[in-house]
Amino acid sequence: MRSTLRIRLTLWYLGVLATVIVAFSAGFYALLSKNFRTNLDSGLRSAAEVTALALNHETEEHLGKLEGEESVRLVLNTMHQTSFPRPDIAVWYGGTLVAEKPGLAGLPAAVVASRIRGIQYPGGYNYSTLEERGTRYRLVVANIWVPSSKAQYLVVANESMTPLESEMGAVGEILLGTVPVCLILAAVGGYFLARKSLTPVLAMAQKADHITSRDLDERIPVEQHHDEFGLLADSFNRVLDRLQDTFRQQRQFMADASHELRTPMSVALTATQVSLEGRPHSREELIETLEVVQSQMLRLRRIVEDMFMLAQADSGVFGTTVTTFYLDEIVQESIRAGRVLGAARGVEVRVGESLPEAEFTGDEGLLRQLLLILVDNAVKYTPSGELVEVWLSSTSTGYRLRVADSGTGVAPADQPYIFDRFYRADKGRSRRQSAAGGGAGLGLAIARWITQLHGGSVWLEHSDSRGSVFCVDLPVEKSPVVAEGAKVAESGGLAGSRS
Ligand SMILES: Nc1ncnc2c1ncn2[C@@H]1O[C@H](COP(=O)(O)OP(=O)(O)OP(=O)(O)O)[C@@H](O)[C@H]1O
Ligand SMILES: [Mg+2]
Repeated sequence: MRSTLRIRLTLWYLGVLATVIVAFSAGFYALLSKNFRTNLDSGLRSAAEVTALALNHETEEHLGKLEGEESVRLVLNTMHQTSFPRPDIAVWYGGTLVAEKPGLAGLPAAVVASRIRGIQYPGGYNYSTLEERGTRYRLVVANIWVPSSKAQYLVVANESMTPLESEMGAVGEILLGTVPVCLILAAVGGYFLARKSLTPVLAMAQKADHITSRDLDERIPVEQHHDEFGLLADSFNRVLDRLQDTFRQQRQFMADASHELRTPMSVALTATQVSLEGRPHSREELIETLEVVQSQMLRLRRIVEDMFMLAQADSGVFGTTVTTFYLDEIVQESIRAGRVLGAARGVEVRVGESLPEAEFTGDEGLLRQLLLILVDNAVKYTPSGELVEVWLSSTSTGYRLRVADSGTGVAPADQPYIFDRFYRADKGRSRRQSAAGGGAGLGLAIARWITQLHGGSVWLEHSDSRGSVFCVDLPVEKSPVVAEGAKVAESGGLAGSRS
């Protein structure tokens, strides 16, 4: 699998490089060949042009066709031997050879004549290639009209293409020899490059293979944070961070949950064991034992219910019932319930100021529970003779609920954690209260989930030795519970546990 990627990368690299090199070589070869041929053609054309000039000039000079031709023969012999040694140049009048300058690398006029005989050449310079005994020759035929002698001449120049072809052959051989060698070297280099580039990935994979849920604190080593593999390793490490956090929260949750469940069970078990052992007990003693067992079972039931609710919240399967109702009515109800709780503890519960009419769409049952959690806490943590007030007001986005008490307050060190699951600021006191059916530090975690479900938020606005104020903001628009039912996006709030 890994070596396949390496080979695939090499093949891609090689394919691209081969295409470029072959295209470049072919282009270079074609260009060079064209250039050589152009040079050869222009040399032949120059020879033909000079001959045509001489033909014109000499016949004009000597005022006679035959004298002029005789002079052209002389000119061809002298001038062309020095200026154009390679091509064979011939001048024809009709089928008669007027003059010829033999060349070092040209076909004799007699041979050329047999090949071009009968061909009608238009005016100007005509190029062609002919082959004789395995050798190719380049040929230029110029049809020249000489006005002074009123005669039409053919000037023919030809030269062997062998030097051109052997030069191109040499270039071709060099290219054919070097291109494959270059490609082989590139393939080897590309393979090693690909292997070297992929080494960090292999290292990452090996490291990742050894990471299990037990050693989630291990991280992928990152050599270069700014290259692609560095970014990949960083992303992977961030996933590990989140996983580690979630695992830690899960373990903490399990530990807290089992601890909270163990306490009421032990109390109930001890109470029953004491009753069953030793001397016979009176009816009053047995009733007392049963009351202890009942209160512990009530506590157990409440903890299990709260845990079940949060578990459903986490998995997004909590079924909500969305209706439109009046928040002020729920506030009134919670105050009535708070008064019952407060009466037992000597705490007065009242409405802060007259409640505005507050129409709201959401889960009425959950919002009632939210208020009860806050009022219950306020009453629970407020000494006898003190006061709890509940306020409801309109805001620009919806409604704000405030539950204020004049209780003992939350110590600043505890304030950041009171919304975490199983967190209780004063554990001793909570345990003592737990005998009366108190919870396990899940109330505010549930309150936070309910507000988030409604697109709102809950926070401790203020707390000191003179009391605490808890606030809840509930927006009327875009409430997730209305928009998406019970599904809440993954958020720290729902998964939050004691840190
Ligand atoms: N109004 C308050 N005044 C003082 N402390 C408070 C108040 N409300 C909450 N707390 C502190 O925050 C902690 C967490 O509150 P939370 O409601 O989550 O748990 P709990 O009341 O202890 O248990 P449960 O609500 O599950 O019965 C409490 O244990 C308490 O220490
Ligand atoms: Mg509570």
